[in-house]
Amino acid sequence: MSEIKSTNIHWHEGDIGRDERWKALGCRGCTVWFTGLSGSGKSTIASAVEQALVNQKVNCYRLDGDNVRFGLNKNLGFSADDRAENIRRIGEVAKLFADAGVLALTSFISPYRKDRDLVRQIHGEAKPSAIDFIEVYVDTPLEVCEQRDPKGLYKKARAGQIKGFTGIDDPYEAPDKPELVLKTDQLSVEQSVRQVLEMLAGRKLIELKK
Ligand code: ADX
Repeated sequence: MSEIKSTNIHWHEGDIGRDERWKALGCRGCTVWFTGLSGSGKSTIASAVEQALVNQKVNCYRLDGDNVRFGLNKNLGFSADDRAENIRRIGEVAKLFADAGVLALTSFISPYRKDRDLVRQIHGEAKPSAIDFIEVYVDTPLEVCEQRDPKGLYKKARAGQIKGFTGIDDPYEAPDKPELVLKTDQLSVEQSVRQVLEMLAGRKLIELKK
């Protein structure tokens, strides 16, 4: 948990509330959090969901683990503490996007349950009311991820060239109660996207176009 160093700060409410903003702009924000091993398909599915939603004019935005580490989180590595801070920051950023009315899609390994639960808590405690947080477990067996190895990282990890690689010599804690589980070794990308869209529609977060 990051240390609190900000003192003598006061919350400024602003003149426009979330409900008023969403109503005026015709939008509804939430966070859809994809978690799973490297190579499980998180980014592929999140990207295809993003495309499908933009096609139907839903204002959504994808925050991707690798990409965010080029900028905002370039000072973080892969120790447990750094991963926790990575996830905490992105949890806060996704919450801000969602508050603004954007459907935020995140694809981070986020291997530790407590870090993901903290993000869920941050959304649950959002003011003036909770923001929807949807956890999607991209449940792909390690063997399949390793066989895909799109970035050649599993090979490097097995050869001892990367230390602390998730699934090899670093843990991945599967979610206990994710809102959705996608078994990507048994589904096409299109089928996974469909399941995500149907789940979001079922929760009234989007309208499903046929
Ligand atoms: S997380 O664990 O902090 O959530 P994040 O999703 O941001 O990870 O970044 C994971 C990506 O970083 C992987 O897809 C891979 O490309 C790269 N990577 C580099 N080193 C590691 C490592 N030790 N463990 C996992 N992924 C790594």
